[in-house]
Amino acid sequence: MIVIENLTKIYDGSSKAAVDGMSLKIERGEFLVFLGPSGVGKSTLLRCINQLVIPTSGRISIDGEEITNTTAKELLHARRDIGMIFQEFNLVGRMSVMMNVLSGRLGYISLWRALTYRFSREDKNRALHALKRVGLDDEELIKRRADALSGGQRQRVGIARALVQEPKVILADEPVASLDPKVSKVVMDILADIAEKDRITVIMSLHDIEMSKRYANRIVGLSKGKIIFDGRAEDLTSQTLNKIYA
Ligand SMILES: Nc1ncnc2c1ncn2[C@@H]1O[C@H](COP(=O)(O)OP(=O)(O)OP(=O)(O)O)[C@@H](O)[C@H]1O
Ligand SMILES: [Mg+2]
Repeated sequence: MIVIENLTKIYDGSSKAAVDGMSLKIERGEFLVFLGPSGVGKSTLLRCINQLVIPTSGRISIDGEEITNTTAKELLHARRDIGMIFQEFNLVGRMSVMMNVLSGRLGYISLWRALTYRFSREDKNRALHALKRVGLDDEELIKRRADALSGGQRQRVGIARALVQEPKVILADEPVASLDPKVSKVVMDILADIAEKDRITVIMSLHDIEMSKRYANRIVGLSKGKIIFDGRAEDLTSQTLNKIYA
């Protein structure tokens, strides 16, 4: 379970909170969508969960292990549990698909191995398994540079990279915003399957209301850094939507 308590983020030089005293409990295997218009704090919230953004105050823990207020070493360890996928995929373009996926194992190997990108046979098998899971198991494709892939293929590599971490949670910041509807569906279906079958918690930010309703077991509607709806998709009324998008 992920517990977020009284989380606040005020960026340096800003007078208002991007995330304003949020509290939330998220159960294992949930597919949760943060829904809301631009600037309500979706990315900030996701980035606080893996400490890419350091909260101003509040606490976050995963299965009882606190990830806020930790030492750098504890944080490295805690981050193994958290896979992240991005709107712009964030792959290393000049590296092969296989190497991009293997980089998801960097948190598990010694520094000298990490520096020389030496991965064990088990890690390579894990990577192949993850690639298969996202439907990319063509031998030629796996050797190709990541910048020679389509957007949908890149995002699937991004998911495979998160999967090889064997994470408890996958955070996804607008994962399909750069993709066309058909490819978006493929990516969302993979993420839904991961939440359901692997019981990996998926926490995602989305703009798209219809897509949120179709995939999420739980929607958290945000407005100005605060939660104004938390419930099942079918309970999200047009009145509430008007408030979220006011
Ligand atoms: N690095 C930063 N420094 C200062 N202010 C920031 C920074 N990042 C975000 N903000 C501000 O924090 C608020 C929340 O931004 P955030 O990016 O979390 O929103 P969002 O819901 O993800 O928006 P979008 O849908 O456009 O991605 C906004 O007012 C934004 O301008
Ligand atoms: Mg954002």
